[in-house]
Amino acid sequence: MANLPTRSPTHRDVDMTRLAGLGMEVEELAEAGPLTPDRLIALAEEQGKPVSHYYAALALATELELPAAAVTAVFCAGKCQSWGALDAIDRAAAVWEQRGGGFAITVRSCLDKCEDAPVCEIRTPDGTATLARVKPDELTAALNDALA
Ligand code: FES
Repeated sequence: MANLPTRSPTHRDVDMTRLAGLGMEVEELAEAGPLTPDRLIALAEEQGKPVSHYYAALALATELELPAAAVTAVFCAGKCQSWGALDAIDRAAAVWEQRGGGFAITVRSCLDKCEDAPVCEIRTPDGTATLARVKPDELTAALNDALA
């Protein structure tokens, strides 16, 4: 992990015990098919939990791989949680639902740009845009641009 920001944390991380439980739920879901956003969003709605918590569990409590697509939003769901990564992931899921798909969402435990937490990479066939200290509205704009 690179250096963490010297800025004070703005958010609270999901605790590891909870992530372990959520990780078991997604492992069960993975047995029935790929972990696409629609399936994770449906699970989160069914369980009354934020979908970002499942993504954090995927990054930190499982070895599962998430499918990629031509356009893929890759989030750090590790320590970046303390600076708002989960809000950004929830927003990505909302954009995904609103647009009816068109991109993939994946997560990592670190993207090696910790000082700029929260970090997201938008990977497209034209290259990768790194969004540093990303806010939900900036993420929405970047996704809409990448998908235009
Ligand atoms: S913790 Fe390293 S980029 Fe998020």
